Amino acid sequence: MIRVLFVCLGNICRSPMGEFICKAEAAARGVADRLYIESAGTSGEEEGNPVYPPARAELAKHGIACGGKRARQLCREDGDRFDYILCMEERHVLAARRICPSARAEIVRLLDDTACPRDIADPWWTRDFAAAYAEIAEGVSAFLDRLEREGKLG
Ligand code: 4NP
Repeated sequence: MIRVLFVCLGNICRSPMGEFICKAEAAARGVADRLYIESAGTSGEEEGNPVYPPARAELAKHGIACGGKRARQLCREDGDRFDYILCMEERHVLAARRICPSARAEIVRLLDDTACPRDIADPWWTRDFAAAYAEIAEGVSAFLDRLEREGKLG
């Protein structure tokens, strides 16, 4: 079982989108049983809140549900509970390494495995949830391609 944690700032927009896109993509590839997937935020400000409605609506457009998800803050133990911590921005990588100083997990940006490594812009500010969805889906595909290439999905 490969354990994957998506991380953003609030855990109400980008990282839940990563979590639920990855669950859907893993199911589509027939490898859902090989992966355990969650998400968390570097900040605790949104703790307990549901996925932000525009992010939820964008997922729904693609037939993906995210009901029941509540925001939670990244904690030190996550560094050992997960194999990969996939962050939306470089500043989340730095924060995750600070919160999880002895992490066993590989802590990287979600788009680091793509042809154009970069941050994923915060849709809280850009209001472009379709662009966020497209970039997150690109990163999820690249990540699952990498696991398949490395023979980690069976
Ligand atoms: P997220 O988006 O990090 O993708 O969940 C944000 C959510 C809330 C805030 C910023 C970004 N905020 O400033 O409250």
